[in-house]
Amino acid sequence: MADANPFVDPLRFARRVPPCAVVIFGANGDLTMRKLMPALYRIHYEGRMPASFAVIGTSRTAMTDEAFRAKMRASVEKFLEDSPFERDVWESFEPNLFYEAGDVADAGFYARLAARLAVAEGSSGTAGNVLFYLSTQPSHYATVVRGIGEARLAEGAGWRRLVVEKPFGHDLDSARKLDDAIHEVFPEASVYRIDHYLGKETVQNILAFRFGNGIFEPLWNRRYVNYVQITAAESIGVEGRGSYYQETGALRDMIQNHLLQVMATVGMEPSNIFEAGAVRDERAKFLRSVRPIKTSDVDKYAVAGQYGPSRAGGVETPGFREEPGVDAETQTDTYAAVTFYVDNWRWAGVPFYVRTGKRLPKRVTDIAIQFNSAPHSLFAVGGEDGRASARPNLLIMRIQPEEGISLRFMSKYPGSGMKLRPVSMDFSYGSSFGTRTPTAYETLLVDALSGDATLYTRQDMVEASWRAVGPILDVWSGRRFDFPNYSAGTWGPAESDDMLARNGHFWRIP
Ligand code: BG6
Repeated sequence: MADANPFVDPLRFARRVPPCAVVIFGANGDLTMRKLMPALYRIHYEGRMPASFAVIGTSRTAMTDEAFRAKMRASVEKFLEDSPFERDVWESFEPNLFYEAGDVADAGFYARLAARLAVAEGSSGTAGNVLFYLSTQPSHYATVVRGIGEARLAEGAGWRRLVVEKPFGHDLDSARKLDDAIHEVFPEASVYRIDHYLGKETVQNILAFRFGNGIFEPLWNRRYVNYVQITAAESIGVEGRGSYYQETGALRDMIQNHLLQVMATVGMEPSNIFEAGAVRDERAKFLRSVRPIKTSDVDKYAVAGQYGPSRAGGVETPGFREEPGVDAETQTDTYAAVTFYVDNWRWAGVPFYVRTGKRLPKRVTDIAIQFNSAPHSLFAVGGEDGRASARPNLLIMRIQPEEGISLRFMSKYPGSGMKLRPVSMDFSYGSSFGTRTPTAYETLLVDALSGDATLYTRQDMVEASWRAVGPILDVWSGRRFDFPNYSAGTWGPAESDDMLARNGHFWRIP
């Protein structure tokens, strides 16, 4: 809440980070190199890091502070998005980086960490504020939290917070157990469960679009909306993460968390104020209204896919089963599509179609809201060539890439007579604002460090999401699919089109 905490700026402009230490567990991993370190560097670049801070990386691999700094420099240079790497800025950032190797099950490791933190408090002036960031293998989360607790690192002079990377559990039961383990050490107010989609500028803009304008909200309900489609397509495969992904699958990796959160952003009620408790209450309420599919109906409302090899355009792409670390017989979904229904007054009867997949034709994430057709057709339809057909209004919110919003409507084709053709009204972030968009991790790190959990998920949301996908996971885990059922580079299995066709709908090609 925007209360006595001077670091919470309700409008989020120029929010600054207070003196603190950040301890990253799993600092030798992909996420630290690709996302966390570039984000911290960028926050520093903008002058939003405090004069006093320390980032302590940890992992099992032995490394000196110097080696860690060199490694982080290389990854920041490589993965910094849309912004320059500047040597002098790096040189003022680098002395704040430290490294401590250790085994997460070893009490001695936490004692060494405590000593590091004490030094940082003295020499870096971190005021005892510590953010612990869990980015290890998820199976280590509970062990790390216990280690922090036993070494009494969760208490001290300043604030102590814990950021937990997804996946938050593997199902409802394991999510609850993990939550219990965390609450043994950290109170709920100090726990930040990250879902980086909520930090994406364009996902935040859904709220601005809906609740910062007067004309859309009156139409945003079952009376005017015919259906909603959410697509998160990736052209990449599993990129060296075969063994992790094999245990996860598309439904768990993307739908249970990111896409249900996006769906909640599209469907939730407005909160009365923009404050963590109020906004998260509304998201949670929406997620609790998502109807869990009966196991006997899973085949009607959910489709699993797995990509096979392709030779399109003379390029050989391996199938999922040929990827390193993946079983030759694996039953893991690399594509998932689900029809959700939301049991509340606003959305009763409106299908929310959600799909995601690896090795689809392109990388695109968008939301399409299809409105009902005009009740009566007065005009002939067709452009110059007479081929276009009457199309209902469609609002598209593009999350990435080419971030923007467009609205399709029918327009008169120039000339005598009244012929109509669909046209579109477009807003593009790039051309409207001409300013750099912060990455999701920049936004979310600054928020956690300044004590704002609005864009973080809460345990009740996590549980509601597991409840929504649980029956599908149960049915799929006991099944032998006829995989692969789509070729790399195509839009997924035919059953997914059939699922929509049964309602007289079809997937847009984004
Ligand atoms: C991650 C998933 O959470 O999100 C990845 O584990 C996926 O499999 C990624 O590729 C997508 O994120 P973004 O921001 O690139 O859309």
